[in-house]
Amino acid sequence: MGSLLVDNIGELVTNAPRDGVADPLGLRRDAALLVEDGEVAWIGPARYAPAADRRIDAGGAAVLPGFVDSHAHLVFAGDRAAEFAARMAGEPYTGGGIRTTVGATRAATDDELRANVRRLRDEAMRQGTTTIEIKSGYGLTIADEARSLRIAAEFTGDTTFLGAHVVPAEYADRPDDYVGLVCGPMLAAAAPHARWIDVFCERGAFDADHARAILACGQAAGLGVRVHANQLGPGPGVRLGVELGAASVDHCTHLSDADVDALAGSATVATLLPGAEFSTRSPYPDARRLLDAGVTVALATDCNPGSSYTSSMPFCLALAVREMGMTPAEAVWAATAGGAAALRRADVGVLRPGARADLTILDAPSHLHLAYRPGVPLIRQVLHNGVPQ
Ligand code: NIG
Ligand code: FE
Repeated sequence: MGSLLVDNIGELVTNAPRDGVADPLGLRRDAALLVEDGEVAWIGPARYAPAADRRIDAGGAAVLPGFVDSHAHLVFAGDRAAEFAARMAGEPYTGGGIRTTVGATRAATDDELRANVRRLRDEAMRQGTTTIEIKSGYGLTIADEARSLRIAAEFTGDTTFLGAHVVPAEYADRPDDYVGLVCGPMLAAAAPHARWIDVFCERGAFDADHARAILACGQAAGLGVRVHANQLGPGPGVRLGVELGAASVDHCTHLSDADVDALAGSATVATLLPGAEFSTRSPYPDARRLLDAGVTVALATDCNPGSSYTSSMPFCLALAVREMGMTPAEAVWAATAGGAAALRRADVGVLRPGARADLTILDAPSHLHLAYRPGVPLIRQVLHNGVPQ
């Protein structure tokens, strides 16, 4: 493969601050970065850049770690544009449309599902995403959950079993039986293809007892825990996630002081998904409150055909700055290092020797422009595993 030098970087976001410097983004000016074997081999001042087989001239632009989108639902068929239009005309979002997508997903072929994942993964990559988590959750039968995860695993190592997305229609009057199915044969079929387990813990989906039972079974099968929590209203999801040592609790839109305290005293990341509030016309989560309490915050897209049909991390980042009280620097950190923390990954979301050479070169001189110039395609070039895309 040979070595590759990214030279003439005006501003490099490393997320690796120097000792004793209060700069979470670890910014470096006039830098260069050497890639070897898909990893960062060296970072330093451009004037000391070593020789390399190939060279990319960043032309004084900003370079940052590739975005880590730690929450996405890409294995599905069809769309729900009409449901979106109805919401924009005043209908509320309830999650009831999930069953519509379940029907379309069950009817799709493997190749149709694979093509949909590839389309959205490529779309995300063009917008700077180099790591993406992908959930199942639109199959809700043993075979359809297992194939969703098998297909997801063709695209990422961070696959998540979300058999407990909603109770499917055929189990509507016997939810306990569905929980038994999820914990038993469905988990057994899903676990070989999954790194994580997730539950939609919400009124109308799964209550605290069901969610705890499912997450505990997943843990016993060796899966890490994540929770869809406190999205549509207050509830037990966040505290349950913290209690079980979840890597991340996601949405966090309706939080009590006790929820914030629990997160602040834990290693659980709060993953905020502003695309969902945008697309359901709901109040945004209060990132400022979480950050001020010392909670680690991640930003992700929640890309799915119902509540948030965007694959754009720059869009979510701009929303977080404008609507959720984050500074541009906090939002860039949350979309890169924060996502890596939510996936318990040390090799991505950071640029330092030994990290994966996943990075984006912006069409802008500074990371500030991502929020300052919303809706503008600022991703000039993406390197994934050191390979220009
Ligand atoms: O994260 N909240 C639950 N699941 C998705 C929405 C799924 C859908 O509406 O299809 C979410 O927002
Ligand atoms: Fe989600």
